[in-house]
Amino acid sequence: MATNEDLFKQIIAHAKEYGYIFPSSEIYDGMSAVYDYAQLGVELKNNIKQYWWKAMVQFHENIVGIDSAIFMHPTIWKASGHVDAFNDPLIDNKDSKKRYRADVLIEDFLSKIDDKIEKEVEKAKKKFENFDEALFRQTNARVLENVKKKEDITNRFAQLMNDSDLVGLKGLIEELGITCPISGSRNWTDVRQFNLMFSTQMGSVSEGADTVYLRPETAQGIFVNFLNVYKTGRMKLPFGIAQIGKAFRNEIVARQFIFRMREFEQMEMQFFVKPGEELKWFEHWKEERMKWHLSLGIDASQFRFHDHDKLAHYANAATDIEFNFPFGFKELEGIHSRTDFDLKQHEEFSGKKLRYFDPEMNENYIPYVVETSIGVDRMFLAVFSNAYNQETLEDGSVRTVLRLPAKLAPIKAAILPLIKKDGMPEKAREIMDMLKHDFMCQYDDKDAIGRRYRRQDAIGTPFCITIDSQTFEDNTVTIRERDSMQQYRVSGEILAEEIRRKM
Ligand code: GAP
Repeated sequence: MATNEDLFKQIIAHAKEYGYIFPSSEIYDGMSAVYDYAQLGVELKNNIKQYWWKAMVQFHENIVGIDSAIFMHPTIWKASGHVDAFNDPLIDNKDSKKRYRADVLIEDFLSKIDDKIEKEVEKAKKKFENFDEALFRQTNARVLENVKKKEDITNRFAQLMNDSDLVGLKGLIEELGITCPISGSRNWTDVRQFNLMFSTQMGSVSEGADTVYLRPETAQGIFVNFLNVYKTGRMKLPFGIAQIGKAFRNEIVARQFIFRMREFEQMEMQFFVKPGEELKWFEHWKEERMKWHLSLGIDASQFRFHDHDKLAHYANAATDIEFNFPFGFKELEGIHSRTDFDLKQHEEFSGKKLRYFDPEMNENYIPYVVETSIGVDRMFLAVFSNAYNQETLEDGSVRTVLRLPAKLAPIKAAILPLIKKDGMPEKAREIMDMLKHDFMCQYDDKDAIGRRYRRQDAIGTPFCITIDSQTFEDNTVTIRERDSMQQYRVSGEILAEEIRRKM
């Protein structure tokens, strides 16, 4: 049976083989944690962005979109706290010369303890009939010992992270006997803080401050435009500002494909509300965002909330929507109640008032903010990995199929003349010319029809339209559905309508 790691490798290979994602700069041996979206990948990515934009901006009268610049005044990152506190604790292994995040090494150690517990439970499950799992977890000595060990390490780890105690983190790594996955040695350097922002020089910023940063999140572009949008859009609380754009972080990563990249895209929305109402809106957006995910037809069991116990100093509530990626449940989207922290900071650092005038209360105040923030690339990986399937058919052959939600699939319909003669290619082109105004279509007349169906299954095309001799008799074509592989005939006249209805 394929392990999760094998499955993840297959998914990465499939993404490359079928033109979804390429390693960046591949002919120069690539760059770690940087990827290019290929001919089909860019379509899927654009469809995800459009689906989000429609749900957030088009369907909400009180949410507008912006597109702010990647370069921003460097003081913004001082005000937001990123210059001083956007750090990862890093540690190097002196033998392999590989660099790791100290916190990730400890987290990996903790998940190995989890694995041990689960293995113990699985073993007992197989051994005993009428197995009472809850009772077993509460009474088995080995399970209890591991649960206690994990709790102990987790508490100490949280405290060290909270105190930014780098010496303590190194001490914990040594005490736990964590080894370098490459060299296998415990020969570690000290832990150092490493700022995640990329910086570069810009000539014309105010004197002495010529270092600018590539933004590590799009959110600050929204905060600094709050007043402009509020005034020019004549907005009334509560209202939101949405943005999709690139963000950059100098991440230290290990084989996570597009889950954690150095250049990635975010879809963020800041919802400005009256102080005191933020927790109500936090719950609202939690629910709304989960509904958005489920609207794509992905099974609800693949998602879960992870409410934060320890909150960042500026937040009074926070949760992650986690997705069951091939490597387990991990953060897909964050929803945070950020109080008035960001606007207050920008007021202080810019010296400009960033207030809302409440006509009902006849009062000026700084609104509170509830943020929804999701990575486009993580959403891509969630949709793509969930869609990837290898299924054995009745005749024993294996079909690789991408069961992408039809709304997001790069190609909606493949137009296939049954054979390459008798006027079928010309008729197929006619149909293609008609459909392409409404849908991304692909024409294909190479190889036998069965192979062409399989090719379309592998790229996730939900509908194949086949033109055959009957088309000339009654103007009907065959629609073959990707998921059920069922075929039926429809009139060419209602073809576009039929595809739209199916989607
Ligand atoms: N403005 C809030 C913010 O940026 P975050 O939790 O750091 O919060 C939000 O990031 C989302 O951006 C994450 O849930 C994730 O989907 C995505 N994201 C963050 N870092 C990423 C990276 N290095 N590569 C890909 N996606 C990333």
